[in-house]
Amino acid sequence: MEQVPLKIAVYPGSFDPVTNGHLDVARRAAMMFDKVIVALTHNVEKSPTFSIGERVELTRQAIGDVPNIEVDAFDGLLVHYVRQKGALVIVRGLRAVSDFEYELQLALMNRELEPRVETIFLAPKDEYTFISSRLVKEIAKLGGDVSAFVPPAVKTALARKFAARK
Ligand code: PNS
Repeated sequence: MEQVPLKIAVYPGSFDPVTNGHLDVARRAAMMFDKVIVALTHNVEKSPTFSIGERVELTRQAIGDVPNIEVDAFDGLLVHYVRQKGALVIVRGLRAVSDFEYELQLALMNRELEPRVETIFLAPKDEYTFISSRLVKEIAKLGGDVSAFVPPAVKTALARKFAARK
């Protein structure tokens, strides 16, 4: 019997830390593809609060139970990683028009670098559209409650991280 190739998508990001919005996008992607690789890396524009190991662990704890989701980390160019994994699709979440300019630029640049790879955008559930890792960190740092925005393990990790810094 002819082997049908698996439809694999890569959902890349810093996930510093992963939020309920990210998890919602990953779950939506998992309903559309045979396999989704949530791929964490370093964004050169940002200096992360959590190490890559911590971020991978927190993301795995939150979503590792979904059978067709894998959590991984990579270095280097995203399109190289995508091809190396046998994927042809990049998934990115789009929360608002303000995300669009950067996301379009990223998608077009990635297609220029690797024409076989397409980017698709998924909108998270509306109640998650205002969540960002940056705001969650700011709220946690200032003693606010982030339970509605992140999974429990991330809430605990944020509290520990900022307590240790005091
Ligand atoms: O969650 P973020 O920080 O918005 O994700 C941005 C990310 C990690 C997807 C982007 O910085 C990226 O793809 N980095 C890998 C390096 C790369 O391929 N850079 C060229 C992009 S055109």
